[in-house]
Amino acid sequence: MKRLSERTAGFTDSVIRRMTRVSNQYEAVNLSQGFPDFDPPKEITDRLAEIAGIGPHQYALTWGAQNFREALAKKQEHFYGMKVDPDSEIVVTCGSTEAMMAAMMSVCNPGDRVVIFSPFYENYGADTILSGAEPIYVPLKPPAFTFDGDELEAAVKQPGVKALILCNPSNPCGKVFTVEELKAIAELAIKYDIYVITDEVYEHIVYRPYEHTCIAMLPGMRERTIICNSLSKTYSITGWRLGFVMASPEITDRVKKVHDFLTVGAAAPLMEAAVVGLQFPDSYYEGLRDHYTHMKKLFTEGLQEIGLRFTDPQGAYYVLVDISEFGYESDLLFCEELARKVGVGAVPGSSFFKEPENRYIRFHFAKQDATLQKALERLADIRGKMRQ
Ligand SMILES: Cc1ncc(COP(=O)(O)O)c(C=O)c1O
Repeated sequence: MKRLSERTAGFTDSVIRRMTRVSNQYEAVNLSQGFPDFDPPKEITDRLAEIAGIGPHQYALTWGAQNFREALAKKQEHFYGMKVDPDSEIVVTCGSTEAMMAAMMSVCNPGDRVVIFSPFYENYGADTILSGAEPIYVPLKPPAFTFDGDELEAAVKQPGVKALILCNPSNPCGKVFTVEELKAIAELAIKYDIYVITDEVYEHIVYRPYEHTCIAMLPGMRERTIICNSLSKTYSITGWRLGFVMASPEITDRVKKVHDFLTVGAAAPLMEAAVVGLQFPDSYYEGLRDHYTHMKKLFTEGLQEIGLRFTDPQGAYYVLVDISEFGYESDLLFCEELARKVGVGAVPGSSFFKEPENRYIRFHFAKQDATLQKALERLADIRGKMRQ
């Protein structure tokens, strides 16, 4: 048999999803893969029940149902003052995962380079490879996860750099980029004429006093920003696979075509049901922020009581816990033993870093109080069970 593709030969299975399997094997409380264990808003699921009877059940327009795109445009203007044409500037995709892939394929030629901050959401490495591009990593330095402007410029000005990926708020480190940081990124993007492809899936999960800024709204950035986003986290519907790209008409026109060949379209009945969510009043988003603030407080206060060191997230729903005191050389082994001996699932931090970083594991806290309390009870004895 001929060899399978060279391009994908180096792919490993996702460490995040592997840790879910390990957690299941040991009946551990799974705080690895980031999805909520609570229900989506009832208004959305009630509407889905109605839609089951009345449809639509056939293909929607390939770039997304009209009312869904109109609701997205309204919401974007409401939160960021950004006027978006629902016809020429939005493509609805199967999650932000497809949005990012379609954006990358629309922008990159084989051999182009893409700048990625490290630590990073693990899909970006694969997305660059699938689109034929080569990643260049720029470190976000712990514990504050700040970047060095000179290092960023040195990366951006390398030959062949076409785009920068900006995950804001950031998974896994919980960083919310400040306006000053975004201005510095924007200045370089304009100076070196590169696109900024954003991943803003945690835009509404930001803890006071931090606020999310959409980089597209900075001067000169509207035409070079490709926003990738989704409904997965904001409405607790990760399984519905609803995401979108927002960009200028020229870019969107290309993304529409790539998307059409990748997936044809997002699920028509789910788009129809989710419109209700996109029309929620501000109080929904305030409630969401309060709910996540509560979960963060419950979980991080518990970690503090146990005496573990961790990064306090500004946004998203992850905590990086420093495991250096346990003396493990491999954070992967640590996570496997944590699931087996302590009964809590986590993701090894090394799967997010380009640098040889072995000192962190990542927990997520998008869970019901009882689930988080159970995890904390188990973690209380972590030193007894995990010390090497
Ligand atoms: C930063 C980031 N981007 C994208 C995704 C996936 O989003 P979607 O469900 O919209 O594909 C995740 C999921 O955990 C994520 O953390």
